[in-house]
Amino acid sequence: MRSNANLVDQFGREKRKLRISVTDRCNFKCQYCMPEHPEWLAKKDILSFEALYIFCELMVEQGIESIRITGGEPLMRQGVVHFINDLSRLRAKGLKRISMTTNAHYLAKYAEGLKRAGLDDLNISLDSLDAKQFQQLTKKFLQPILQGITAAQAVGLKIKINTVLMRGINDDQIIPLVKWGMAQKVSVRFIEYMPLDGDALWQKDWVVSEQDILSTLEKEFQITAIAQDHEPAKQFVIQNLNDAVKENFSKQTYKIGIISTISNPFCQQCDRLRLTATGELFTCLFSDQGLSFKDKLEQYQKNKDDALRNEIIDTIKTVVWYKEAGYVSKQRAPLRKITMHAIGG
Ligand code: GTP
Ligand code: 5AD
Ligand code: SF4
Repeated sequence: MRSNANLVDQFGREKRKLRISVTDRCNFKCQYCMPEHPEWLAKKDILSFEALYIFCELMVEQGIESIRITGGEPLMRQGVVHFINDLSRLRAKGLKRISMTTNAHYLAKYAEGLKRAGLDDLNISLDSLDAKQFQQLTKKFLQPILQGITAAQAVGLKIKINTVLMRGINDDQIIPLVKWGMAQKVSVRFIEYMPLDGDALWQKDWVVSEQDILSTLEKEFQITAIAQDHEPAKQFVIQNLNDAVKENFSKQTYKIGIISTISNPFCQQCDRLRLTATGELFTCLFSDQGLSFKDKLEQYQKNKDDALRNEIIDTIKTVVWYKEAGYVSKQRAPLRKITMHAIGG
């Protein structure tokens, strides 16, 4: 039962999850996310970890229970492990989970430090198991990602895999990824391609829908939908494995997820808020604009003035209250320049 409903919107949706982007920079160039010619934010415009910590503390005091660190690629920001260590202090105030979404390129190096700092779990983007296809999709090699996954598992970090599917590009990976996920004991979530790519090339024809994914899986597996609770992914249990995997996993059941923002948005249950690397609060992934808290947070960091603190909290509550219905009612790309790599997914 939730005791603190300070962050609630006009549709009665309480906010428990905060996603913070710590950098817009990324060493990958995924077609569904990065523009061909990215313009990186200037260092001076990025919120400092000190100001970000103040924001996170205020948000936890207002009822946020989970914080997810995103990017760009969060492991490209120096000091991120130390920041997670600091965030862990907020568990005393009600923070229950610290997570990260990463491309895992640098994960083998950081896994142990992340675990020690207090990270609970990782969502890792992996769009293909075919080394050549992976390189075409990301402009990087597959091997370090697989090594990163092994390293994270070895230190006991929980992992989920994110796969954005694009028709005719990597939709041949649905079955291979599920079989690989079973063998690695890691859940795979397939994501419908959203109109948030940097160069605004998205077309509905490129979306591999939840129904398409299920139809492909049905050829080899028996699929049972299970309950979804305040998370973007619908959950499915997969059973009756085909002969190829039966030898090893005949008695096991395995869960996958499908994030179907386009064909079946979960906006009615949306419990998330987002802060960009520049300190702008976005209440929806598809919002046309956000509100910057950078100046106020930096001011508060200097003088710790109670009136200013209250003003920041009141403004956050007001912004949250006016959170729009979401993609479910909008059904279009946002009218803003800021794209996925800058808002953090
Ligand atoms: P969990 O708490 O582990 O379920 O994490 P998550 O799925 O919310 O986070 P992740 O960063 O792994 O995002 C996976 C996919 O879901 C990405 O494509 C995100 O853009 C998308 N996603 C995350 N939050 C939202 C949301 O509030 N709305 C929509 N439409 N998509 C979201
Ligand atoms: N549509 C759907 N998911 C996307 N991601 C990035 N861009 C898109 C898009 N256009 C996913 C990444 C990562 C997460 C943060 O967002 O794969 O896993
Ligand atoms: Fe939430 Fe907006 Fe995503 Fe809908 S589209 S689930 S309201 S962030």
